[in-house]
Amino acid sequence: VWHEFTPLAAKVKAVNLGQGFPGWLPPKFVQNSLSEVSTTSNFLEQQYARSQGHLPLCEAIASRYTSMLGRTVNPMTEVAISNGASGALFQTIHGFVDPGDEVVLITPAFDLYFAQTETAGGVCRTVPLRRRENKQEVAEGGEWRLDMKELRAAFNDKTKVLLINTPHNPTGKVMTRPELEEVAALLRDFPRVVCICDEVYDQISFTPHVPLASLPGMWDRCVTIGSAGKLFSITGWKVGWCVGPQHLVQCSAVMFQWVAFSVCTPAQVAVSNCLRVANEPYEGFPNYYSWLLNEYSRKRDIMRAALTAAGLEAVEPQGAFFFMADTRRIRLPQKYLDLVAGGMARDWAMCRFFTEVIGVCAIPPSAFYDPVDAGLAANYARFAFCKPDDVLHEAAARLLALREYQAPEPAE
Ligand SMILES: Cc1ncc(COP(=O)(O)O)c(C=O)c1O
Repeated sequence: VWHEFTPLAAKVKAVNLGQGFPGWLPPKFVQNSLSEVSTTSNFLEQQYARSQGHLPLCEAIASRYTSMLGRTVNPMTEVAISNGASGALFQTIHGFVDPGDEVVLITPAFDLYFAQTETAGGVCRTVPLRRRENKQEVAEGGEWRLDMKELRAAFNDKTKVLLINTPHNPTGKVMTRPELEEVAALLRDFPRVVCICDEVYDQISFTPHVPLASLPGMWDRCVTIGSAGKLFSITGWKVGWCVGPQHLVQCSAVMFQWVAFSVCTPAQVAVSNCLRVANEPYEGFPNYYSWLLNEYSRKRDIMRAALTAAGLEAVEPQGAFFFMADTRRIRLPQKYLDLVAGGMARDWAMCRFFTEVIGVCAIPPSAFYDPVDAGLAANYARFAFCKPDDVLHEAAARLLALREYQAPEPAE
């Protein structure tokens, strides 16, 4: 999906709300942290790092999770640094999954999960999120529902890993405590299963984010994954991590030792400094993370207004920086209907139309589904709002052209 839509957006000069990377420079304290390390007098900060992670960074991460999880995290044994969260996912999945093992994924799911499971020889078992229809239930639990019966039915004696992602890409779903309690009960019934918790958007949550590893008995069952890329708007630095009990984290760390051995030391030094400074007051906010969340809330509001004004239904995210827009009322021009008739998924043809004709690139969510469930994505498009305000306003202006393609409101 990235190979098609990123070049297409560039070719037709569309506003690119496709790929989810922040469209701005990181804060000054983040930039300064990296420039300071380039002139350090400590030569070791330019050499190979400890394979499991540069110790000051492991300490900063251990301290972060000690407060988030309400237990003391040991920086030496319970943290492993990785090449971004993507690398953390790779080394953890490859650390645990043997050929024939099953990995349960909740779809739509970040596309790496499928490929990494398959390259480890594992088999993906998918459980789709369902859209809630009852307004009261939406108000209480958000737009997307995980059917616990379906989740339980996906487990069997070959299941090795459950992978959860909260806040979720692409729906923005944040799992509630009652949902996580049900997941915990399921894990207790399947003691062999390891839960990988992809929580890269933990600070971009408009409703309280609860880490599964903080629930009773769950620390021993979870590897929690995070990313400096999302926290500090530095996705290019590729610093991520795994946090969990030693017996799980070491499987992930050993795998990494034979892949790249260590992560870029200057980037690790700089991120350890960023994690420390981030807790201090920032731009009138009690800390940097409160400022960041406020920025994303504002951008979410701009994006919601843009989609709504264009006649799309903006499906409210509870976290992360994406909107799923319901496109069912858009009438595709004949050229794109022909693509659908030729076998292209409707959401894919819709995103081509958005990019080529409307001038705004969005991503077709069928890329995040197993082919058997891809039909669930037919009426959606994913718009990333991690972009500067002027880019979002330009997208909003262009999206208004969609009004011409609206089917009339269905009669009540
Ligand atoms: C859910 C999720 N997990 C992991 C990643 C990868 O993070 P990183 O850039 O740190 O490799 C992303 C990036 O978009 C993501 O959306």
